[in-house]
Amino acid sequence: MKLGVNIDHIAVLRQARLVNDPDPLQALGIVQRAGADQITIHLREDRRHIHDDDAQMIVAQSPLPVNLECSINEEIIDIICRLRPHRATLVPERREEVTTEGGLDIFTYEERLQAVIKKLHTHEIEVSLFVDPDETLMRKSRELGAEWVELHTGRYANIYAMRHSNLPRTRYAVKEWDKPRRELDTMLNQSLQTLQDSARAAQTLGLKVAAGHGLNYQNVRPVADISPIEELNIGQSIIARSVYTGLEQAVKDMLALIR
Ligand code: PXP
Repeated sequence: MKLGVNIDHIAVLRQARLVNDPDPLQALGIVQRAGADQITIHLREDRRHIHDDDAQMIVAQSPLPVNLECSINEEIIDIICRLRPHRATLVPERREEVTTEGGLDIFTYEERLQAVIKKLHTHEIEVSLFVDPDETLMRKSRELGAEWVELHTGRYANIYAMRHSNLPRTRYAVKEWDKPRRELDTMLNQSLQTLQDSARAAQTLGLKVAAGHGLNYQNVRPVADISPIEELNIGQSIIARSVYTGLEQAVKDMLALIR
């Protein structure tokens, strides 16, 4: 299992005070030393964490392949084509969201996606589509010409949190899932089964399969056990742990769980 470390949250901390540190660039060597396989960043339209100069320096200086997440906005795609990261992961973006909620609506944006994927390929950038685990979306992703799909694990992570955490349930975003434990167990198994089925369908279609969103040290193992998934992109939980352990140890701890 490969690990892409999403370092956006380092920039989140920097932006909290609009200062120079912590600098996400400093993470590159540490993540590599810890044994991870990829650097993942998201250049958002509102530039709320990673900025253009961060993205430019990270792509230029990273010793690991860079997976650059972005929307299908024209200005952003032009920037990505200039930067030429190893991979672009196309994600939906809404300004008001705290983080990427839900996968791409690839049927609604089919034509635009087709044009964007073609353009990225012209610039020798491989393309991944961040999609909900759903077999029809796997087929469509293949049809559109993507090399990868990244399965959105947010639903699984939310149900897991509801089922296993001792925090007051009012703290969770998905309050409608405040259900009896037995029901949550069933939902958890179903969400894993859906991930498994979609991963297998994608693999059969010839797609490479990644997964991510909301994965942490408690919930990652069952997802890492889904064999068609060959890469996990994980950010918030690793950067959160690094506050106490340092980044190198936090990455090593995650690698020990998923390999
Ligand atoms: N993969 C994609 C496509 C994402 O948009 C994100 C969040 O930026 C992640 C992975 C990482 O999610 P998290 O920070 O919850 O681990």
